[in-house]
Amino acid sequence: AEYELGDHPDFMRKEMREQPDAVDRCLRGRLDRRFMSARLDGVGLTAQEYQRIRRVKLLGCGSAYYAGQVGAGLVEELARIPADAEPASEFRYRNPVVDPDTLYVAISQSGETLDTLAAVQELKRKGGHVIGVVNAVGSTIARECGSGIFLHAGPEVSVAATKSFTAMTVALALLALDLGRVRDLSITEGRRLVAGLSELPAQLTAILGQEDGIAEIAARYAKAEHMFFLGRVRGWPVAREGAQKLKEISYLHAEAYQASELKHGPLALINPGMPTVFVIPDDELLAKNTATVEEIKARGGPVIAVTDADLPAGLATDVIRIPKAHDALTPITLSVPLQLFAYHLAKALGRDIDRPRNLAKSVTVE
Ligand code: G6P
Repeated sequence: AEYELGDHPDFMRKEMREQPDAVDRCLRGRLDRRFMSARLDGVGLTAQEYQRIRRVKLLGCGSAYYAGQVGAGLVEELARIPADAEPASEFRYRNPVVDPDTLYVAISQSGETLDTLAAVQELKRKGGHVIGVVNAVGSTIARECGSGIFLHAGPEVSVAATKSFTAMTVALALLALDLGRVRDLSITEGRRLVAGLSELPAQLTAILGQEDGIAEIAARYAKAEHMFFLGRVRGWPVAREGAQKLKEISYLHAEAYQASELKHGPLALINPGMPTVFVIPDDELLAKNTATVEEIKARGGPVIAVTDADLPAGLATDVIRIPKAHDALTPITLSVPLQLFAYHLAKALGRDIDRPRNLAKSVTVE
């Protein structure tokens, strides 16, 4: 039944709608309410081994890479360990310095992506400690890593990743929480995160309930040829994944940019024919982001704000307002309206959602 469409028009929509359940399964048994931490038995590291980690490097391709970027932000924020994400293909070809105090994390839905597998093999040859964040149990990457976190998101058929991306970010939030709780993250903060994580399924259900409104906005932008996707810090990997989704299934040119870099070049492209999707978390950068929206508006650029904040009325041309999550977890919730936006914009253009041209669900060749 998992490979059947049922009443759904395509797998992408089916899988978007499965996200509350996918997150629920990913969290099941993993929230430790005694220590206000995560219970990740599959990672196989003791608290002492956790404490020795000096750096975290996250590797993946496509949406898995962007999920890794969300994860890097979470690890730095919650555990205060330097962390960054890199495309697995780049990593394996540049003769990386493999460091024994770094935890390497290979992220993959299929567990079969050749570039990610090759990065894992290169790491192992050089003595790196690598764990997997993988959906497909028994897959090559899962076996090669030997330890890690399974997503339990269920099979994903649509080429455009949706529930697997969300589950990856949730699994990485659990890892960040666990790393944080053996360091400086307080039990009070741990409690807030455990609560925030357990609220995610209901929040995702509420966001999916906003589909009609998002579809109506998306259809109005279907005539655009180019679009910017902007975000700062927590909003930046969300913008990148949102642009990727739109490119994959609508074939529109979508370019993701750090909102802070706009004035250093791309602002020259802003005009009434260049809409901007602006990811605006309700966090300490809200004022910075609203100032950037004003700059875009002053140049006649339409702005679609995707936010969990109370924006001043009339600030953006269109607003997709979602429920507020724990600050650190907003990249998880804010990604979902962007999936719906890309989906409905592609639908308005009559695209074949599950079979986008030139793309494969999993790239197992060079
Ligand atoms: C392909 C797909 C992407 C996916 C990437 C990584 O390029 O088209 O949607 O994000 O592979 O796949 P993985 O299975 O490793 O997560």
